[in-house]
Amino acid sequence: MSYHVDEFGYYGNFGGAFIPELLYKNVQELQENYLKIIYEPEFQKEFTNLLHDYVGRPTPLYLAKRLSEKYNTNIYLKREDLNHTGAHKINNTIGQILLAKRLGKTRIIAETGAGQHGVATATVCALMNIECVVYMGEVDIKRQAPNVARMKLLGAKVVPATCGSKTLKDATNEAIRDWINNSQNTHYIIGSVVGPHPYPDMVARFQSVISEEIKKQLKEKIGKENPDAVIACVGGGSNAAGAFYHFLNEENVKLIGVEAAGKGIDTGHTAATLAIGTPGVIHACKTMLMQDVYGQITEPYSISAGLDYPGIGPLHAHLHETKRAQFISITDEEALQAAFQLCKLEGIIPALESSHALAALEKITYSEQETIVINLSGRGDKDLETYMKQMNAQEEKQTHLQNQ
Ligand SMILES: Cc1ncc(COP(=O)(O)O)c(C=O)c1O
Repeated sequence: MSYHVDEFGYYGNFGGAFIPELLYKNVQELQENYLKIIYEPEFQKEFTNLLHDYVGRPTPLYLAKRLSEKYNTNIYLKREDLNHTGAHKINNTIGQILLAKRLGKTRIIAETGAGQHGVATATVCALMNIECVVYMGEVDIKRQAPNVARMKLLGAKVVPATCGSKTLKDATNEAIRDWINNSQNTHYIIGSVVGPHPYPDMVARFQSVISEEIKKQLKEKIGKENPDAVIACVGGGSNAAGAFYHFLNEENVKLIGVEAAGKGIDTGHTAATLAIGTPGVIHACKTMLMQDVYGQITEPYSISAGLDYPGIGPLHAHLHETKRAQFISITDEEALQAAFQLCKLEGIIPALESSHALAALEKITYSEQETIVINLSGRGDKDLETYMKQMNAQEEKQTHLQNQ
């Protein structure tokens, strides 16, 4: 069984490039050149140096002692939250900006949900002195305000997406529209393992540094490269793809992807694509997606802007179909409790997205001897307002109960 993309851009039944004719030239240019460019020694040198000196890699693999005690097993956190700009997204944007430069592009566009990919894109554009436009849903602009401010400070133009649920899907639609209108000079930095081939494979390769480091770090720490399980949250699926990448063919490593259940997978307010989705085409890619009987995309919902997406990368659709990976879903409430727990036990404030991965510890089975790696995809600074609201509500409820 192969878990890598084939020559036509497919992972089993999923993938491909369902693009409008106007984008054909751009996408074909990428398909024909991406591997050649990214494996040039000069490219690799520049990429690795920037990851090291600018991003701060390798990120630590931290044995979370108190969390491990609580769950009576061995839990390591891969600290992508410690990257420059606060999440794993920067690994991919560094790679894609270097590629865009080599393709002679002078303008960058991106979509963003939680704002982490937008910030990472604005950052590399400032670094390389390239014009940057970021599309972001109106709802996300409100709930991730600190990241909007960051993007603006970094010199990017943030354009609100005002259609549909006004979240990530709608921002992606706007970005694709822009690309069609400006295809000659513009490179579209897609922020996850979604979109037409070669994006899912290209983004996975840039993010694969995560599992490459996990292997080395585990070898140093416990004398073997492979953990028993790797857990990561899945929006489009880039941090999970990066954390799984070098373990895909290690069948004894359990791969666990965590989707956002929102208010519950049967409530109509969810983003758990694999739990309720069916095959279809979204953003130029055949994959699993949430749609109604007429093939109209269902509006997703999650408290976490980065997981609030009705599709999923084709790699994950394939891992799900072949049962190579297990996918579970976590509600808003479960993610919030997992976030509060990590704050108190380890002194780490996780991103709401990453909190979904942490909450999986309540849902899976493991033994005392196992080594579990959780990819802590980002830090929680951007989510403080949501956390405070929830904390205040909990405190009010407690005071009310005490006064009764
Ligand atoms: C911290 C963090 N984790 C996870 C995600 C989800 O994206 P992906 O599934 O591509 O890793 C996001 C998206 O914005 C994010 O900001």
